Amino acid sequence: MKAIALENAFGIENVRVIERPDRKAGIGEVLLKMKAWSLNYRDLLVAKGLYNPKLKLPFVPLSDGVGEVLAAADGVTRVKVGERVAGCFMQRWMTGEPTEAGAKSALGGAIEGLAAEQVVLHEDGVVGIPAHLSDAEAATLPCAALTAWNALVTQGHIKAGDTVLIQGTGGVSIFALQFARLLGARVIVTSSSNTKLDRVKKLGASDGINYKETPNWEEKVRELTGGAGVDHVVEVGGAGTFNQSLKAVRLGGRISLIGVLAGKGDVNLTPILMKSVCVQGIFVGSREMFEAMNRAIALHELRPVVDRVFDLKDIQAALKHMESRAHFGKVCIAIK
Ligand SMILES: NC(=O)c1ccc[n+]([C@@H]2O[C@H](COP(=O)([O-])OP(=O)(O)OC[C@H]3O[C@@H](n4cnc5c(N)ncnc54)[C@H](OP(=O)(O)O)[C@@H]3O)[C@@H](O)[C@H]2O)c1
Repeated sequence: MKAIALENAFGIENVRVIERPDRKAGIGEVLLKMKAWSLNYRDLLVAKGLYNPKLKLPFVPLSDGVGEVLAAADGVTRVKVGERVAGCFMQRWMTGEPTEAGAKSALGGAIEGLAAEQVVLHEDGVVGIPAHLSDAEAATLPCAALTAWNALVTQGHIKAGDTVLIQGTGGVSIFALQFARLLGARVIVTSSSNTKLDRVKKLGASDGINYKETPNWEEKVRELTGGAGVDHVVEVGGAGTFNQSLKAVRLGGRISLIGVLAGKGDVNLTPILMKSVCVQGIFVGSREMFEAMNRAIALHELRPVVDRVFDLKDIQAALKHMESRAHFGKVCIAIK
């Protein structure tokens, strides 16, 4: 069978299609015929050797994929042959608080990922996907969607009438926009592109701010909220945007610290205490959260925003497209 591997060295140019032996499921495991995958910013970091420079190569990347159950070995009760399932980002974080074991079981990072035609996973590490979704749409859920869900719903407890600030229009951010709207919140989005800001308004954002044209976007956010600031910030920029997020959030508001897209910066901690801001670190989510999110997605027939679907053999082009930041929502891969 074909697989994608980071071969002998780091770099997008070293992510190649290779041949690997066919897989067989052991007790309690399922064999999946993979259908589609989605890319996350982390996959770029892994490919470039920036996520874990000590990663042993060759390494099969990608945390997010959807497949059909081809075979269910003895002891499997949670899924049936023929069912479409997604792998859980953390194979061993089922419920409750994050655990060490969970963190060490993250696909495409701590352990090998799903970028292969055949994959074997423990039955506990997969979830059924909403029936209305295509394979590519469903492949967007395990990391980006679940991270946004955990930030805003599980830990964030946002409610109708809240105002949420979302940075950029990448995978996590567009899911955050969709979930915030689902729950009746007002959404303000920042982006480097006016075309993308037009698109977020069609998805229900009330306001867009171009962070290139308005570098002091936090002032605009305060103006748009009558001087009060937002209830919740989805912080995908990290240290490079955090001080501005602290100015944009209201007294007693919340910041979900998720990403590192804006690079380094000197963070001023004082406003966190002076404004009683709750800063919550988010690391994707558990299987229980994934299942709760899927129920909401199915009930509301929510459709993930897929930017482009690349063929498996064009993995390098897909990674480069993501690197270019031209995308809106999720970049996917499928066997065409
Ligand atoms: N903690 C976790 O569990 C977790 C899970 C998933 C992702 N992450 C992290 O979250 C971040 C987003 O991941 P992703 O996969 O959604 O990335 P992505 O799809 O590659 O997002 C890229 C987009 O982010 C926006 N962006 C970049 N720099 C920005 C800045 N300075 N200010 C505002 N927006 C900016 C840009 O949007 P525009 O083109 O609109 O400007 C860009 O197109 C990454 O750092 C990733 O590592 C963390």
